[in-house]
Amino acid sequence: MKIDGKPYRTIWPSSDGRAVEVIDQTALPHRFAIRRIEGLEDAFTAIRTMVVRGAPLIGATAAYGLALALKHDPSDAGADSAYRRLAAARPTAVNLRHALDDVRAHIARLPAGERARAAFARAAAICDEDVENCRLIGEAGLPLIEEIYHAKNRPVNILTHCNAGWLATVDWGTATAPIYMAHDRGVPVHVLVDETRPRNQGAALTAFELGQHGVPHHIVVDNAGGHLMQHGRVDLVIVGADRVTARGDAANKIGTYLKALAARANDVPFYVAVPQTTIDWTIEDGVRDIEIEERDAAEVTHILGRLDNGEIARVAIGAPGSPALNPAFDVTPAGLIAGLITDRGVCAASRDGLLGLFPERKAA
Ligand code: MRU
Repeated sequence: MKIDGKPYRTIWPSSDGRAVEVIDQTALPHRFAIRRIEGLEDAFTAIRTMVVRGAPLIGATAAYGLALALKHDPSDAGADSAYRRLAAARPTAVNLRHALDDVRAHIARLPAGERARAAFARAAAICDEDVENCRLIGEAGLPLIEEIYHAKNRPVNILTHCNAGWLATVDWGTATAPIYMAHDRGVPVHVLVDETRPRNQGAALTAFELGQHGVPHHIVVDNAGGHLMQHGRVDLVIVGADRVTARGDAANKIGTYLKALAARANDVPFYVAVPQTTIDWTIEDGVRDIEIEERDAAEVTHILGRLDNGEIARVAIGAPGSPALNPAFDVTPAGLIAGLITDRGVCAASRDGLLGLFPERKAA
C-alpha cells in the first residue's frame, strides 16, 4: 500500500543485506519513521514494544529475527535459544509460533554454514505468502460487501476494531483487504473505525492507512458500536484475529467480543478475516486455551498524543494511584461469528466449516 503516494510493505530486507527495516508503528500517525532490525534482540524488542504488531507481521518479523540470530550462531543450540526468545515476545498471536516453526523446520537439516542464508530466504517467502494470503482474503470477502451494496444501493457501512489493516500484515491487511478491494473496484464503502483503547490502533493506524488510501471513514469511540448498530448505521462488521481455534473461536484485540455481542443483538453480520497462518489447529476452546497477553497498566492510565504545538506527549488520564488492569485480547466464541473470511474462501466458524476449506487437516 502507499504512504504519501509511495508503495511500501511493512517489513523489507535492508539494501546492505545485513538487516531488515520496518515501519515504526509506535510513531504513527504523528511521524513516519523506519527502524532497522539488526539482530535477535532488536527483533524481540520490536515485537514486544509493538514497533511491529498485528499477528501476521509479528510472524514475519520473528522469521527474520531467527534468520538474523543464525548469522551469529547457526548451531542447533543457537537456533533453539533464538526460537525460545522470540516465541516469548508476545503470547497470543499464533502466527509467531507458526513462522518460527516454519523457519526452524526449513533449516533443520542444513549444514550450519548454510542456515542463515536459507532462513533469510524462507523469511522473505513467508512475507510474500502473507501478501498473497491477504489478497485472497480480499477476493473472498469482496462479494459480502458487493451483495450489501446491491441490496441497499448506498455506501456500505463497515465497522472494524483495532488495526487488522496492511500495517498489521505485510501488505493489504486481513479485515481491510475486502474493503480496499471494494473501494478500488468502485463499490462505495464507509468504515467506522473503533478507536481501540488502550493503544488506539484504530484511531492511530487504521484511520491513518484508510486516509492514505482515500477510503471514507470516521473514527468512533469504542463504546459507540452498539448505538450505531441499533440505529442501522452498521451493515457489516469485519475484524481480524490473532488466533482462531479449530472450532472457530477467535481471539482478537480487547473489545472485539463486546462488538460481536452487540452485532448479534442487532442482526448485524460479524465476520472474522484471517489467513491460514492464524488458525491454531491444536486447540478447540479459545476461552479456555488461548493465552491472553496482560500488558503494562500504564497503557491504560496514560495516553500518548500530539499537542497543538506539534509536540508528542504522554499524559496521565487515571486518578493518581488507582491501579489498572490491561488484558490485551479477548475471545469471541464461534457462535457469534457469521463466518470466517480466509485465503481459501468464506466458511462457517465451526470445525466442519474450517475442515471444508482445509480438508488436509482432517487427519490431524
Ligand atoms: O496488539 P496488536 O496491535 O498486535 O493486536 C492486533 C489485533 O488484535 C489485530 O486486530 C489482529 O492482530 C489482527 S491482525 C491482522
